[in-house]
Amino acid sequence: MRAAESIMAVLKANNKPDVNYSILSNPEFLAEGTAIENLMKPDRVLIGGEDTPEGKRAVDTLCWIYEHWVEKEKILTTNTWSSELSKLAANAMLAQRISSINSLSAVCEATGAEVSEVARAIGLDSRFGSKFLQASVGFGGSCFQKDLLNLVYICEKLNLPEVARYWQQVIDMNEYQKERFSQKIIECLFNTVNDKHISVLGFAFKKNTGDTRETPAISVCKTLLEEGAKLKIYDPKVEKSQMMFDLTSAKVTDNPEHVRKSVEIFSDPYSAVLNTHAIVVCTEWDEFRELDFKKIYHSMMKPAYIFDGRKILDHEALQNMGFHVITIGKKLNRTGLMRNFESIPQQ
Ligand SMILES: NC(=O)c1ccc[n+]([C@@H]2O[C@H](COP(=O)([O-])OP(=O)(O)OC[C@H]3O[C@@H](n4cnc5c(N)ncnc54)[C@H](O)[C@@H]3O)[C@@H](O)[C@H]2O)c1
Repeated sequence: MRAAESIMAVLKANNKPDVNYSILSNPEFLAEGTAIENLMKPDRVLIGGEDTPEGKRAVDTLCWIYEHWVEKEKILTTNTWSSELSKLAANAMLAQRISSINSLSAVCEATGAEVSEVARAIGLDSRFGSKFLQASVGFGGSCFQKDLLNLVYICEKLNLPEVARYWQQVIDMNEYQKERFSQKIIECLFNTVNDKHISVLGFAFKKNTGDTRETPAISVCKTLLEEGAKLKIYDPKVEKSQMMFDLTSAKVTDNPEHVRKSVEIFSDPYSAVLNTHAIVVCTEWDEFRELDFKKIYHSMMKPAYIFDGRKILDHEALQNMGFHVITIGKKLNRTGLMRNFESIPQQ
């Protein structure tokens, strides 16, 4: 926010005779994994500029470039501040939807409602729309948290503490969801994971990327490691060195040697689950749906647990194989196979 103003200040301070500048704001709305599609078929293009003849000429020139492949109605022109704030606001409101549905997932588990059904019922209302309502272990990625923090900071600077607290709560709810999921794993595994072998499937913040920035997998692994678990991790795209780097960083541990001894990273999922007590799904990779879970069940310690933090697996089929299945926003208590989270006495 206010980047255009800063850039203009720098350029003006280094003014060369006969050289004129106009600064435009043209926020990027490309998401990782779908960047080219987002570029070729954007929902909208936003161009902010100054309300002066030169500013207008600069806006028109950039519009002309986009008009080569984007319909005119989808190109919005605004003043510079509106454009800059819209970028933050779009990400903040998307993150807010995820935190809202995640907060309701906790209510679903406590009441017997099902979060996917609730999300569907909400999403079919055209006033809301169906997107960004998938409950999960929490949101991640480089953009949402950064833009929310940026917005909170701006609100505090503007002496708008209520607004700052409102957006801060979206981040707090995300932290709560990550921690809630991690605690659920511990409680279901008889209130201790000390020396238990746990397989973590997926480490990236979402599928189709190797990016681990702000990934919920780091929070989940951190809690499990602090509780003494041994982790066996597999992700199809994330480099082994990146995972070890993330888990040994000062933000995660003050004892990197202990982490190195407690974490093994695998290049195939079947080796990662071998002889483990539980599987924790942290990323919604498509290939996890296709795994041979019968084979996996036989290679695991019993009772065998699956914690589906992304709601991507066929829970009924897994229960029929003998797994204890725990997921987000839904009580699974069929057949007595499940020791569901709520039925375990809390300490
Ligand atoms: N990634 C970049 O480099 C970049 C750069 C500039 C702007 N942006 C903007 O930031 C936004 C975020 O980009 P991103 O790359 O982090 O990807 P993203 O928006 O796809 O994912 C962000 C988070 O939202 C979650 N999520 C995605 N779809 C969801 C759904 N349907 N229900 C619930 N949760 C869902 C993901 O799991 C992830 O944790 C983009 O929309 C884009 O406008 C991104």
